[in-house]
This record gives sequence, C-alpha cells and structure tokens, in this order.
Amino acid sequence: MVGLGCLTMKVLVTGGAGYIGSTTCKALEEAGHTPVVLDSLLTGPRAFVKDRIFYEGDIADRTLVARIVEEHPDIDSTIHMAARIVVPESVEQPYEYYRDNVAKSLELFDQLNTLGKPRVLFSSSASLYALVENFEVTEGSPLAPGSPYARTKHVMEMCLTDMAAATDLRAVILRYFNPIGSDPDLESGIYAREPSHVLGQLVMAAQGQKDAFTITGVEHPTRDGTGIRDYVHIWDLARAHVTAVERFDAVLADVDAPSAIFNVGTGDGVTVRELVASFERVFGEKVPVKEAPPRPGDAVGAFANVDRAREILGWTADLTIDDAIASALAWGNKRRGILGYA
Ligand SMILES: NC(=O)c1ccc[n+]([C@@H]2O[C@H](COP(=O)([O-])OP(=O)(O)OC[C@H]3O[C@@H](n4cnc5c(N)ncnc54)[C@H](O)[C@@H]3O)[C@@H](O)[C@H]2O)c1
Repeated sequence: MVGLGCLTMKVLVTGGAGYIGSTTCKALEEAGHTPVVLDSLLTGPRAFVKDRIFYEGDIADRTLVARIVEEHPDIDSTIHMAARIVVPESVEQPYEYYRDNVAKSLELFDQLNTLGKPRVLFSSSASLYALVENFEVTEGSPLAPGSPYARTKHVMEMCLTDMAAATDLRAVILRYFNPIGSDPDLESGIYAREPSHVLGQLVMAAQGQKDAFTITGVEHPTRDGTGIRDYVHIWDLARAHVTAVERFDAVLADVDAPSAIFNVGTGDGVTVRELVASFERVFGEKVPVKEAPPRPGDAVGAFANVDRAREILGWTADLTIDDAIASALAWGNKRRGILGYA
C-alpha cells in the first residue's frame, strides 16, 4: 500500500454532509488533509458540505464511485458514514434500512476494492452491545443488537471482517458511543428539526421550545434508575477518525489482522439524571423535568472500556461533558442562521 506516509491525505467521506461526517471533514482539514464528500443529501443539509469537494449521489452508484476515484486518484482511504440512522424508523422500515445500510454498503466496499482503494473506516455503534452487569463493555463483550438499525451495523461489521479476511480490503471499525455537541467554531451540529436524542431534548426544554424534559425509564438497574450512556464530544469523535486514517496501516500491523474494532467513547458512564445535573450546571438554571416509563426498545445502556483505543489506535477523548453541553447550547442558539430553522 502507498500513500499513508504522506503528511497530507485525501479521504473519501461518505455521509460527509451529516452531523458526524461534516465535523469529521472539518477535523481532517484542520489536520491538513482533504476530504472528498459523497452524500445523497437524503438527510444531511447542503449547508454542511460548505465549499468542500462534493459529489451528490448514492454510495451504491458504482459509476459515480469510479468517477470520484478517477478524478481523485490520490484518495488514501474511505470513511464510510453514510447510513440511515433513526432507530424507531428502522423498526417500521426494515427494507429501507437493510437496503441502504447493508446492500448499498456492500456495493461500495466491493467497488472501492475493485478500484484499488482498499482502506475503509466504518461507523459502527455501541448499540450492538448486550447489557452487561457493570455496564462497561470491551470490544469483546457480548453483542445483542436490539433494533433493525443496530442489526444493519452488526451485519456490516461481519461483512467487512469477512471481506478483509478474503480480499485486499482492509477495515478499521469504530463503535461510536453517544456523540454530543458541536465543532469548536459551531459550523455544524444536530440538524433535525425536532432532535429526538436526550441532549437535543434538554436544549429544547431549556430554551422553552418544550414544557419539560421527560426522563423515559426511572427503574433501570443503574445507580439512580435512569439509563446510562457514554457521551463523547463530537470533536473528540471527529479527531478519532483523523488518527485512524493517519495510523491505518500501523494499527492493522499492530493487531496483525486485516481488520480491527475499537470502542470510541470517553470511558465514563453518565446516567440521565447526571446528564441533567451537568446540563443545569452549564446552563445556570433548573430545567423542568418529568418522568415516564421507558419507551419500547429503550436500552439500559453501556459505557466504553477505552483501553484498546488508547493503546492501539492512539486516541483518547480530551473534552469534558460540560464542554459538549456548552457547545450544544451555543449551537442551539446559532443553528437557525445556518439551517434556516431553529
Ligand atoms: N449519531 C449517532 O449517535 C451515531 C452513533 C453511532 C453510530 N453512528 C453512525 O455514524 C454515521 C453518521 O451518523 P450521523 O449522526 O452523522 O448521521 P446523519 O444522518 O447526520 O448522516 C448520514 C449521512 O448519510 C447520507 N446518506 C444516507 N444514505 C446515503 C446513501 N445511500 N448514499 C449517500 N449518502 C447517504 C445522509 O444524507 C446524511 O448526510 C452513521 O453511519 C451512523 O449509523 C451515529
């Protein structure tokens, strides 16, 4: 393989118009690299592509992928983030989720390999993990993906591992925990009109767009009965990708395998009540809170054991949960100017 010795690299980022993809593009640029974005704009806003090299289209369009590689023969690796990501929607629309996240990803991987672009970083998820007693999971912990969405990620991990074993394809799989916040310059962030995840809901309750923040599930077997998560600052997560593309060959040489899996989290478990307390501290005011039973399929949760990411990938999270909350609040105030809606 050639190319990774270079100080600067060109990286194909599928889903580069999305929340994590656009932030990762910015982190790549800050490290001196050049992202090439491939996104269908199925959900990601055009505003997040900014003035980057951009191909609007589908990951399964082999002709388009061939054209991208022809026009950018110096692409070193691909970060594959494009996916459908809404868990309840995946329960209602399993065909669309398996088609887009599994079948289309397979076409992309095969085409990249055929075109001589074998290095793939894949966005996987902590939602694969089974519940374990102390909530701390290593990459070897048991898996029990609880939704069609999570199962698409599990299937793709297995596909990538098998393809890497049998072909030139090489895979670094990152299992993200719970990304929150915005990039330091507030250029992108959560863009859903009604954010469904916990911090987005808290921001809406704090800013009066909702009557109260509802804690769903207060009888879980955690220290205070509420769900536990590992909230990782989006900027730390973006930096993990920069480290992973820069060290791609070294990482696989280190594990002596054609593929490797890493948890990308902080290593700290935070309950929903603890998140609310942190939020109120950063916000400076109490937020009205209601309690409700868990929603169907709500997971008790997990937090990352990050030893492998630190020792082999060479990455750890630096920023605090307070940093992430402050940036999410600031983004909440700023996003209308970028997205055209509050
Ligand atoms: N956000 C999270 O909490 C989280 C957690 C774990 C893993 N992930 C994974 O990280 C990745 C990025 O997530 P995100 O939160 O930035 O989501 P996002 O929805 O903001 O970004 C996904 C992007 O992919 C694009 N896309 C979807 N299907 C496409 C296709 N067939 N061809 C081309 N583009 C397509 C969308 O337009 C969008 O811009 C996803 O793979 C997701 O499963 C996210």
